[in-house]
Amino acid sequence: MTEINKEKPVLVTGATGYVAGWLVKKLLEKGHLVHAAVRDPENPKKIDHLNKLAQNSAGKIKFFKTDLLVKGSYAEAMHECELVYHTASPFVLSVKDPQKDLVDPAVLGTENVLDSANVITSVKRVVVTSSCAAIYTDASDCRNAPNGVLTEEVWNTTASLDYQPYSFSKTMAEKKAWEVQSQQSRWDLITINPSLVLGPSLNPKATTSESFSILKQMGDGSFKAGAPKMGIGLVDVRDVADAHYEAGFNPEAKGRYLTSAHNTNIVEMALSLQEKYGKEYPIPKKTLPKWLVMLVGPMTNKAFSRKMIKNNVNVEWKADNSKIRNELGITFRSLDETMEDSFQQLVDYNIV
Ligand SMILES: NC(=O)c1ccc[n+]([C@@H]2O[C@H](COP(=O)([O-])OP(=O)(O)OC[C@H]3O[C@@H](n4cnc5c(N)ncnc54)[C@H](OP(=O)(O)O)[C@@H]3O)[C@@H](O)[C@H]2O)c1
Repeated sequence: MTEINKEKPVLVTGATGYVAGWLVKKLLEKGHLVHAAVRDPENPKKIDHLNKLAQNSAGKIKFFKTDLLVKGSYAEAMHECELVYHTASPFVLSVKDPQKDLVDPAVLGTENVLDSANVITSVKRVVVTSSCAAIYTDASDCRNAPNGVLTEEVWNTTASLDYQPYSFSKTMAEKKAWEVQSQQSRWDLITINPSLVLGPSLNPKATTSESFSILKQMGDGSFKAGAPKMGIGLVDVRDVADAHYEAGFNPEAKGRYLTSAHNTNIVEMALSLQEKYGKEYPIPKKTLPKWLVMLVGPMTNKAFSRKMIKNNVNVEWKADNSKIRNELGITFRSLDETMEDSFQQLVDYNIV
């Protein structure tokens, strides 16, 4: 049981991020003092939306300049915090140097933040934003999971530096977090493991999260001829923020939380947009046959390797979200609501 004093500041690393934005909003609305750790507190494009949120809510925000790769960088921001949210980690799928661009900031960054938690004696709980990517790499991994369903018990054993390095970075980072936590007993660790996160961004013009490139492809004609039926999990960013909040303040929260609302696929997601947007935008209507994806996929998109297509296209994705529903009381928005709210934002901001 970990009771967090709500009067104490709460640290959010990577506060400029897409997922973190909604968490900061929730904390501010609940009246907390948020210590927002960001790379560039002087950049209005990155932080203006957070300042506006603070002006319109009961809570307060204070910015700290930090970097995952600078040792001790988070210590000042963590001062007096009982609760630390560590969300910062690069979410990019196409990188030049996977070790330098993904694994180092994810793993060394996590170690860096947790080393400070070991030094700052006020810290009682750390919530790390991990990912379903630390549970699986390809939809085909579901088949090897107990009963064919992903749960908190399952760990990713198939990603590597050469294959799906983002998933590898998240797996290594979460393992590091549990390792550091196990060496002490003052603070406990909770991980939130979301599947693909969609839903509106609080800073749509500056959002670089990979979530948006996937959505954008549904409206920019990339899948005009049809979409690959890739099995995937989906969750709304607003529900992910609620999950983080509960994981932070529920005294009985414990362990990993698989945070995924829908066992779905790219075709089903696109079809949910057909009725409202299908006339004006080239939303895919059909499923591309797997042989065709095999033929053209690797030519059109670097992320679509033959192995990736073989292991994901026409393969069902199945995960069990009962732990977070039962223990933290999280409910999830419908797939239609998440897809529509996300796509409408791309329309409103002329992104598609
Ligand atoms: N979006 C999803 O579908 C999804 C699913 C599961 C898990 N997640 C996890 O959720 C977290 C947030 O992702 P997101 O989708 O919100 O992506 P995002 O908008 O790109 O946010 C990433 C955050 O990490 C920060 N960051 C990256 N490299 C850094 C470094 N070297 N030093 C300090 N900060 C650094 C970024 O800061 P700058 O603003 O300065 O770049 C940004 O605040 C990540 O841990 C990601 O793995 C995301």
